[in-house]
Amino acid sequence: MQNNKTVLVTGGTGYIGSHAVVELIESGYRVIVLDNLSNSRDTVIDSIFTITGVVPEFILGDIRNGALLDSVFKSHSIDAVMHFAGLKAVGESTEIPLAYYDNNVNGTIQILNAMKAAGVRSFIFSSSATVYGHPEWLPLTESHPRRATNPYGNTKLMVEGILEDLAACDNEWRIACLRYFNPVGAHGTGLIGESPAGLPNNLMPYVAQVASGRRPTLYVFGNDYDTADGTGVRDYVHVVDLAKGHVNALAYCERNAGRMLAVNLGTGVGYSVLEMIQAFEQVSGKPVPYKVVSRREGDVAACWADVALAESLLKWKAERGVRQMCEDAWRWERNFEN
Ligand code: NAD
Ligand code: WQD
Repeated sequence: MQNNKTVLVTGGTGYIGSHAVVELIESGYRVIVLDNLSNSRDTVIDSIFTITGVVPEFILGDIRNGALLDSVFKSHSIDAVMHFAGLKAVGESTEIPLAYYDNNVNGTIQILNAMKAAGVRSFIFSSSATVYGHPEWLPLTESHPRRATNPYGNTKLMVEGILEDLAACDNEWRIACLRYFNPVGAHGTGLIGESPAGLPNNLMPYVAQVASGRRPTLYVFGNDYDTADGTGVRDYVHVVDLAKGHVNALAYCERNAGRMLAVNLGTGVGYSVLEMIQAFEQVSGKPVPYKVVSRREGDVAACWADVALAESLLKWKAERGVRQMCEDAWRWERNFEN
């Protein structure tokens, strides 16, 4: 199934980007991956080939290199950009904020400039539920007030603002800001997944590493929240579902010029930390010893998505439940020295 459209995927060897590349290829798109490998490996391209039978073109490069971007757009006929490249660790963003603004905001401006020069106007952006800050109501609708609580969140908010201005001044742009909730899991083949460098920042990779014995204990950040069991509640969404949401968003953009969309991608259901631990133990058959420690600064008690807009506009709905998220994360954890 070829549709003769070519998509440039920045950050395409990373966790979410690599799954999007697979879904794009399987939907008939030609894909070019641009990544500086600051948080991924080029062996991901081999895994994408094993899964799809197609080798996407890989360009080793940085999104902040405007001259490189111009040459990529000149030498390829690109129809759309999916922009995953960026830095994503909330804690690190408070230590090196300038690096976050440079990669996430400056890097995005460089891409948009190169797209403008090349006449490419379809842009899918990796935003985050972090733009909602502390929820005033649940589920979180796209109209919820936006406020950042850390430099990482601020970069997402700034880029959303830039994209809104761009869409308002030139109605040729077709832009989708996809606000991810908590992406987890891995590809069902066990060939691509998340490989955090060092200590995982996020719950599920940490749980997987404890189940496999790589780490002795999980630290649960607080059990005195106003939730059913006192631990934090989140909307975990399978990375393959998330990747499929990007393909639907691209199809929507191709059909609708002059639109700037901001859409939640989640399941609409929240699970607590203890529920996720229990689900992982059931699937893996391994204990996940944990210790409750104090709350992590900046964490919200509960957060889940209103998914009505994704369903109505993008015709997208997450299909994979918590059990499959754990099964796929566990397969990835066991298969690889990642
Ligand atoms: P990731 O780190 O696995 O992937 C990002 C990729 O971008 C990596 O391969 C990295 O090498 C590359 N990269 C970083 N800076 C670059 C630069 N300057 N030039 C070229 N390549 C660069 O992260 P991910 O989890 O796949 O996240 C992808 C996007 O989704 C990010 O923008 C992130 O902020 C956003 N997001 C992630 C989550 C999450 O929980 N994983 C949630 C919401 C939003
Ligand atoms: C989930 C729950 C923790 C680790 C983060 C970013 C957000 C987005 C997704 C990029 C919370 C608890 C965690 C641990 C724990 N990323 N936890 N022990 O914080 O919802 O969202 O990733 O955009 O911006 O903030 O996800 O996986 O870190 O935490 O108890 O070792 O697990 O307190 O309740 P979070 P998370």
